[in-house]
Amino acid sequence: MNILILGGGGREHAFAWKLAQSPQCDQLYIAPGNAGTAEVGTNVDISATDFEAIHTFVKEHGVDFIVAGPEAPLVAGVSDYFAERGIPVVGPVKAGAELEGSKDFSKQFMQTYNIPTAGYRSFNQDQVEEAMEYLAGHSLPIVVKASGLAAGKGVLICETHEHAQEVTKDMLSGEAFGEAGQTVVIEEFLQGIEISIFVLTDGVNYKLLPSAKDYKRIGEDDTGLNTGGMGAVSPVPFADDAFVKQVEDTIVKPTMDGLNAEGITYKGFIFIGLMVVEGTPYVLEYNVRMGDPETEVVMPRLEADLVDLFQGVIEGNLDEKAFSIDPRTCTTVMMVSGGYPGSYEKGKVMTGWDQTEGSILFHAGTKQAGEDIVTNGGRVLAISSFGQDIASAVAQSLKNAEQIQFEGKYFRTDIGKDLQR
Ligand code: AMP
Ligand code: GLY
Repeated sequence: MNILILGGGGREHAFAWKLAQSPQCDQLYIAPGNAGTAEVGTNVDISATDFEAIHTFVKEHGVDFIVAGPEAPLVAGVSDYFAERGIPVVGPVKAGAELEGSKDFSKQFMQTYNIPTAGYRSFNQDQVEEAMEYLAGHSLPIVVKASGLAAGKGVLICETHEHAQEVTKDMLSGEAFGEAGQTVVIEEFLQGIEISIFVLTDGVNYKLLPSAKDYKRIGEDDTGLNTGGMGAVSPVPFADDAFVKQVEDTIVKPTMDGLNAEGITYKGFIFIGLMVVEGTPYVLEYNVRMGDPETEVVMPRLEADLVDLFQGVIEGNLDEKAFSIDPRTCTTVMMVSGGYPGSYEKGKVMTGWDQTEGSILFHAGTKQAGEDIVTNGGRVLAISSFGQDIASAVAQSLKNAEQIQFEGKYFRTDIGKDLQR
């Protein structure tokens, strides 16, 4: 099998690392990839959303199927584009990708199919006055969300009515997030514990992958600005079999039934972000791809031939595929560039990575520059480790994070601490 992965972050390195272990994997290409993916496959200098250039490459190199890492190509319709050209894609068609591409659509979907989620209303550009009035009578805090894709920055939790009205105006005018903000979802605030569940489906059959929790804030103890994710833990200790069964019954099955009722044949990952409120799981959001850095803790635990699983997704016989899960805990600690998630510099030489041991290094924002590996993004490197428990796994990742040097390096030391209390 010749396989092309779209994307170039830690998630794509983790996919590439896992796919490359399969005896069925012949050529593995990653577009655009990073210095880590280049160790297990061949990087291709094409953007993940340049479908025509990808198509030319696919024809020239006999690619059998494509794995879409990030949401952007999926929401732009990469699966539909290649379906018309006879190339399967692991990742949903555009209609399915709307679960992430439009929060307005996903909230309607949840309401229609009785999937537990926070109460909401949405407003468009022509409803500014109505939105202001609605907000004035809303309980605090108020959650304001840009409906479209906003690179994880489109959700604001407002402590006052005035703040909520201000951010809603900025979104609806297009000032805050461009088109993505021109429809706004206003939601009830849910107080609870967050956890993510991952589903892999061929459209009919599905498999649950291990649960994970990520740490989105830049600072220790979940303080400061939101990032793409500073670390992750799998499994999440409180997500026992009974909890997972509850999620399956109240959320996963109704989601699959809803997709079928909408006539959407969904092939790929569904990443369900949950808030557990007094034992009851509510959906915060759907993502139509794997999480990053959650993939960097889920893939190491997956005892499976990933090529085989992806073939099951494509061929519609995922029910015939079996896998097991490593019972140990896996954690990852993300090393980031100084200044991230604000402005930061790139091109810093990374050293010491060749002296690390006992962890898997998944590259995120890195590239090869001559003999050197240099930083090439905000999130630079995910250090994943196994342990008998969270504390021992994180300690291993931190030991190696100390070992690796680049100017301005930063990482959180408290990943998973909240789950050990
Ligand atoms: P989302 O992109 O919709 O998952 O939102 C990003 C983050 O905002 C989530 O991971 C939560 O931490 C927070 N959030 C979103 N919706 C709510 C809500 N209704 N209540 C409380 N927190 C929320
Ligand atoms: N780690 C959160 C995400 O991938 O959206």
